[in-house]
Amino acid sequence: KTYDEEYRNQFHFSPAQNWMNDPNGLFYDEKTGLYHLYYQYNPEGNEWGNMSWGHATSKDMVNWTQEQLAIPMLDNQGWEDFTYTNTTGNLAKYGEVRYVGVPTTNWGDSNGKKAIFSGSIYVDKDNISGLGNGAILAFYTADYQIATRINDGEDNGWGTWIGLSEIQEQHLAYSLDGGTTFIQYSSDGNSAEPKPLIPVTASEGGDAANFRDPNVVYDEQNKQFLMTVVSNQQALIYKSQDLLHWEYASSIQRQKNVGAGVWECPTLIPMTVSGTNITKWIFAVSVQQGAHATGSGMEYYVGNINANGEWLPESKKTMNSPMTFDYGEDFYAGIPFANMKDKRNVLIAWQSNWSYTGDAKTSPWYGNMTLPRELQLVKSSEGTDGYLLKNTVVSEIKNNEQENVISQSKANLTIENNEQKIEYEGNQYKITAKFSWNAENQPESVGFKLRVSDDGKYYILVGYDLKTQKFFVRRLNTGEPNMGDPRDQMNAFVNTDNGTITLTVYVDETSIEAFANEGEKTITQNFFLRPEYIGAQATNQLYLYAQNGTAQITDLTLNPLASIWS
Ligand code: FRU
Repeated sequence: KTYDEEYRNQFHFSPAQNWMNDPNGLFYDEKTGLYHLYYQYNPEGNEWGNMSWGHATSKDMVNWTQEQLAIPMLDNQGWEDFTYTNTTGNLAKYGEVRYVGVPTTNWGDSNGKKAIFSGSIYVDKDNISGLGNGAILAFYTADYQIATRINDGEDNGWGTWIGLSEIQEQHLAYSLDGGTTFIQYSSDGNSAEPKPLIPVTASEGGDAANFRDPNVVYDEQNKQFLMTVVSNQQALIYKSQDLLHWEYASSIQRQKNVGAGVWECPTLIPMTVSGTNITKWIFAVSVQQGAHATGSGMEYYVGNINANGEWLPESKKTMNSPMTFDYGEDFYAGIPFANMKDKRNVLIAWQSNWSYTGDAKTSPWYGNMTLPRELQLVKSSEGTDGYLLKNTVVSEIKNNEQENVISQSKANLTIENNEQKIEYEGNQYKITAKFSWNAENQPESVGFKLRVSDDGKYYILVGYDLKTQKFFVRRLNTGEPNMGDPRDQMNAFVNTDNGTITLTVYVDETSIEAFANEGEKTITQNFFLRPEYIGAQATNQLYLYAQNGTAQITDLTLNPLASIWS
């Protein structure tokens, strides 16, 4: 039976089989009441390659049904003349260029196809594109290689072959059957060989191999569509009136080059600041290496959009101080759902990190999504410009929450330099508690010890360090020594001058999502309790603790979470 394999999360989406990375084209369809999730998918294996869009649907963003492949790779185009031959644009240095194929995990191993990389969806309710009433428009990046030749008259007049180059271009495919199948759009009507909406030669960034992940949003105030596309360490904004013709408008530049890798999966999210009617435009982006985490992580900036399609940072400080979206190592490439009811902003991220995907072997699939996160932009002295983006798990998770197993008499307790066992045996649950202390006898650290093995050796800590004011998740003691280059622990500053902190943790088979003070700070981590280290032991004990001092625990609750696969 699928979905009960070792390490399979029970309330996080993962594909039935094969590799998955970024969420793509999330949207809500009010006609059917279904949420759609597309994702980077390898139909042929358990490692990255043959990238296509996989698909799943859900009534509540929590319980998902696996659907068929939505957008397969673009077919073999054969050896055709590449249209950018001998231009003086970006590719001029390559001379004559020709199709070869798609990069697979092995770059020399071309099969003549173009891969379908990440992107987004816009639901065209008013048929602005003219492609059909309610057409579902999928903007994505086609990624492929070209053989490059210099026109030097050598090699039988074909020029001298100088190697392979990677090309990325922005394309459109659309669905007229509610998102099940997609037709490739081409301005010349030839969907067998679709022309890009934004060819690589139109990339203002000039980095042919890192020009990707189009994300489309409507700017109500200025009555225009905006598309954000990354180009190496900047994001380019294109604008359009009809969703088909895109004009370059502006760029957002990375300020701090601290050896970080390329930007990926950019998104502009218009958000109303809580309790006001002010709109701010969040620019969120994923950084491939050198993010706050080991390897890849997600950041955001607060700003404003103007009529020219320029995103302007809130202040001079903004670009120098990217804010961390989630402080864990496993939160990447997140994008929001399009076409949401009640202007909700809900984002799903890929729960992994490019720095160690190959080390954590699960089979026959790889990768899972985070729980869907409801975003809220609040005023806060903590944020760079006085704003903080909070995120919590959507309330729909209640569909899977079973009754609280902590009795009234055990929900409030005092712990003095000790660990207190919670009588519950299970691996999938949500646990919440409020920890408080007095200045005279304040503990050094409080929190939960989770997934503890019978011999007590292996566990995960989710806690708060009062000396450093750091909320943390520590997965080093899981018996999994080799996930890349693991951090000692992942930390996020939380002010507790009021002597209290509320911690909420969603624990799944290999996933921890931890929230401090209702999503003020979050830490998302994978973990792998290795059977070869823990033998036949159970690993489901759990404790509350207070170290070197006294903590009052109030409102302790534990809700088991039902599997989304049953
Ligand atoms: C981010 C990313 C995207 C790209 C996709 C390819 O994780 O590298 O930039 O479109 O994955 O699978």
